Amino acid sequence: MMRSVKHTIILLASAALLVSLAGCDSPKPKTDAQLGLNPQQASGRQVFQAYCSSCHHAYSSAGSTGPSLKRLFRKKYLPTGLPANDRFVLQTITGGRGMMPGFGGTLSEQQISDLLAYLHTL
Ligand code: HEC
Repeated sequence: MMRSVKHTIILLASAALLVSLAGCDSPKPKTDAQLGLNPQQASGRQVFQAYCSSCHHAYSSAGSTGPSLKRLFRKKYLPTGLPANDRFVLQTITGGRGMMPGFGGTLSEQQISDLLAYLHTL
């Protein structure tokens, strides 16, 4: 009797853990407010969704067509090994890199600076 109660508790605890783990990678996107984005970062998020999200994940470390951009600026190096700073990220965005197309002719200066502000929040 006690044994089965114990088992039930363990089962419930594992279920709760699974649910909370699944919650971390929940596909339901957070709102800008939940992410604490200021207006410029929120505009940058829209640019990201329109031009980058087809190839990059922002909140999952899983790779897509391109590498994940989660914690982009919080790491010392970019996926290619270049230093993670504005200069090299800007270079990638405007000129492209490897299989990634450049967006220098597509995005305005304002869009690029908004995008950069957003990438700093990841
Ligand atoms: C068509 C797919 C595609 C799109 C769209 C795309 N990228 Fe990429 N991106 C890639 C690929 C592939 C790489 C890996 C390039 C390499 O390592 O040679 C990459 C690499 C990167 C890197 C890492 C560069 C480094 O030095 O490691 C950054 C940062 C980046 N992309 C940002 C962006 C941003 C911001 C956008 C939106 C403006 C974007 N990408 C749109 C495919 C894409």
